[in-house]
Amino acid sequence: MRGSFTYCNPTKLYFGKSALKNLASELEKYGPKVQLIYGGGSIKKNGVYDQVCEALTACGKTVIEDGGVMPNPTVEKLREGVQIARDNDVDLLLAVGGGSCCDYAKAVSVSVHADDDPWEKYYVRFEDPDCEIVPVGCVLTMAGTGSEMNGGAVITNHETKQKIGHVFGTEVMPKFTVLNPMFTLSLPHYQMVAGIYDIFNHICEQYFSGADDNVSDYISEGLMRSLIHSSRIANIDPEDYEARSNIMWTATWALNTLLSRGKSTDWMVHMLGQAAGAYTDATHGMTLAAVSLPYYKYLIRTAGEACVAKFARFATEVWGISTEGEDGLIRSQAEIAFAGLDALEAWMNELGLVMSLRELGADEDMIDGIAASTIILKGGYKVLSREEVAEILKESL
Ligand code: NZQ
Ligand code: ZN
Repeated sequence: MRGSFTYCNPTKLYFGKSALKNLASELEKYGPKVQLIYGGGSIKKNGVYDQVCEALTACGKTVIEDGGVMPNPTVEKLREGVQIARDNDVDLLLAVGGGSCCDYAKAVSVSVHADDDPWEKYYVRFEDPDCEIVPVGCVLTMAGTGSEMNGGAVITNHETKQKIGHVFGTEVMPKFTVLNPMFTLSLPHYQMVAGIYDIFNHICEQYFSGADDNVSDYISEGLMRSLIHSSRIANIDPEDYEARSNIMWTATWALNTLLSRGKSTDWMVHMLGQAAGAYTDATHGMTLAAVSLPYYKYLIRTAGEACVAKFARFATEVWGISTEGEDGLIRSQAEIAFAGLDALEAWMNELGLVMSLRELGADEDMIDGIAASTIILKGGYKVLSREEVAEILKESL
């Protein structure tokens, strides 16, 4: 393990078909005014809204509605949510929806009592909260982001063409989350598979880094194998509860701060995908799918031995790729690594993921802007130059 670290995750999880029954006992811990945060209306169609409202009413809560949180929540919507919370002096922010609602609730939570504009404070200056934080609870309806058990809050600013994530500390993580896989069954196939790829890539971002022997990598390989298995079942039969429940649980563990303990992490696929998202407003998981293979192929070609060895390990441990070629001879590490990426690509095609930025609305004229908007991180196998970022983005078109 690298360095010294603290591990604490304060989010209490309630999982399973009857998980929502626990909402009442959680609500009792907070004051009477609840800001009910939700998206564009899916929860009204699938009955989750009614079930949540029933619990709120039974607990005697005053509900302050805050619907219309869009996928990739914007800074304008964030400012609106902050105003609603201030005007009503709310005691709890209850997010009912996917990662966008959870992220938004967290961004509101740290901004209600802050003096400065939230975008400037948290997304430009990256300051830590220094004010009272309104507690957040979550009822998740989409598996993917891990936002239900982490401190991440990604906000999009269309004016400056930036999509930026601030990973807050434990004090901002949801106090509790209700995870009922049944609530995810109404997801359109497009969103289901985008979520599955988001989960997969969260694991990859924390796996493709370092040359040390690290327990996280073994956990990651298990999570990836389970996800591939369940995704194939859910892709054919989205109603399969066992598969959908495994996917939901994997999503939480893929990004709840466990895997990153004691190891370096990459996150460049997310930086590329988020920058593309700022220009296209495309579905998060699909932006990751579009840039992943060009980025990984570029790494194997240029980032050195430790990188190639890790991608070869990914091939053998996650995809079951043989170290021997068809001629019976041991293949080179690079050959094995590329065979692993072929297996990854085949799985992505099987799920029906969008594999090009052009299909998501990007074009050649946007490349320089997206490259300029990409945050370059240093934790992976290679620190990219701005030119290399542009090259990978062109490959992703
Ligand atoms: O808005 P509604 O009507 O609810 O519809 C949503 C939305 O259109 C729909 N949906 C969700 N649950 C549904 C459903 N439709 C039918 N039935 C259900 N049960 O799905 C669409 C997408 O929802 P959204 O919440 O936007 O998706 P997701 O969970 O992928 O969240 C995406 C956001 O999370 C950020 C992304 O950047 C993006 O802004 N991320 C947050 C992270 C974190 N907190 O750690 C990490 C991630 O890497 C990611 O960046
Ligand atoms: Zn993600």
